[in-house]
Amino acid sequence: MNKTILITGGAGFIGSHVVREFVKKYADYHIINLDALTYAGNLENLKDIEHLPNYTFVKADITDQALITSIFKKYQPDGIIHLAAESHVDRSISDPTAFVMTNVIGTVNLLNAAREIWKDDMTGKRFHHVSTDEVFGALGASGFFTEDTKYDPHSPYSASKASSDHFVRAYHDTYGLPIVLTNCSNNYGPNHFPEKLIPLCIHNILNNKPLPVYGDGKYTRDWLFVIDHARAIDLVFHQGKNGDSYNIGGFNEWQNIDLIKELCAQMDRKLDRPAGTSAKLITFVKDRPGHDLRYAIDATKINKELGWKPSVTFEEGLSLTIDWFLTNQEWLNNVTSGDYQSYYNNQYKGA
Ligand code: NAD
Ligand code: DAU
Repeated sequence: MNKTILITGGAGFIGSHVVREFVKKYADYHIINLDALTYAGNLENLKDIEHLPNYTFVKADITDQALITSIFKKYQPDGIIHLAAESHVDRSISDPTAFVMTNVIGTVNLLNAAREIWKDDMTGKRFHHVSTDEVFGALGASGFFTEDTKYDPHSPYSASKASSDHFVRAYHDTYGLPIVLTNCSNNYGPNHFPEKLIPLCIHNILNNKPLPVYGDGKYTRDWLFVIDHARAIDLVFHQGKNGDSYNIGGFNEWQNIDLIKELCAQMDRKLDRPAGTSAKLITFVKDRPGHDLRYAIDATKINKELGWKPSVTFEEGLSLTIDWFLTNQEWLNNVTSGDYQSYYNNQYKGA
């Protein structure tokens, strides 16, 4: 094998698409998927590639420094692509400590392990930290986040991701660790865990349950198809400048309420239901505390320097996503049984 790349969080939503992209595209790389398999991790996401000879799964928790160090010593990865995280803002509001442990301590553990195995020669090595646009805080009605926007996180989730970004840069500045960062907007697509807005609404429409809209529904997010994010990570990992960061986004802003109405319209057509059926399920509920009004990414840098741009329109991406959920209802049923129900009942009491 030409290179060994260790991807953390590869059993999660975005991580599974990154693992698939790398395993299929780089037959000469050994891809190691390191994941603790929390509620969000699911090896079913990788069924189609798990038999391939250049893929290995290792179950491990990144908060365990000794274990992580021993895995790094065993496999001697040339590159790390770090996606493992607690990723859901609502969960960070009810349990911030889990976010500090995985997102901050876990990241520092990985940085320490990389530093240890690369200490004699950092040539050709790279630590790619996958982060979020939420570290920049909230925008008003206009403007975009650029790579130079000042960090201003508001939720425990975004504070933990901001902290991890700072540690990654600090290891570059202090120890010369070769790093790149990417800060991406909201992803959607196949395998999206149904606690997040789009898959939650697809699941509820299928089950004729209320579609919970926080506050007045005017909050705005910039949506990107997950496979386009995986393509961007591939480009930045291979061609991004050492020490640099790149913003990734779809130039595709939607107010939540408009997005849900569009989703309802597409679902009605695909399910052969009279127009307007799903929209009747829309229910305004209590707002998320500290809810950021608007995120929007300026993705000019990655476009100009690396030639990346989204490959699908939102309409196409949303249609592909709904089709995936409709043909994978067993996946949806499996991940929404058990613990999901107690999370849901607690989060949406009375809705
Ligand atoms: P996810 O919650 O779907 O998956 C996270 C994965 O990390 C799971 O497989 C889980 O088992 C694993 N994990 C969690 N804690 C772990 C631990 N302590 N040790 C090892 N593995 C652990 O998340 P996602 O939505 O795929 O996001 C992946 C990354 O991308 C995160 O770092 C997130 O901050 C970032 N990101 C997400 C989005 C988005 O819209 N989802 C946008 C921008 C950036
Ligand atoms: O911007 C990137 C971030 O996008 C990632 O870093 C996070 O990991 C990812 O979870 C996502 O965060 P959001 O909080 O934006 O995603 P979520 O799907 O939870 O919510 C999207 C919007 O919809 C947000 O304004 C809150 C709102 N919402 C969400 C849920 C779950 C509702 O109105 N009702 C809901 O039930």
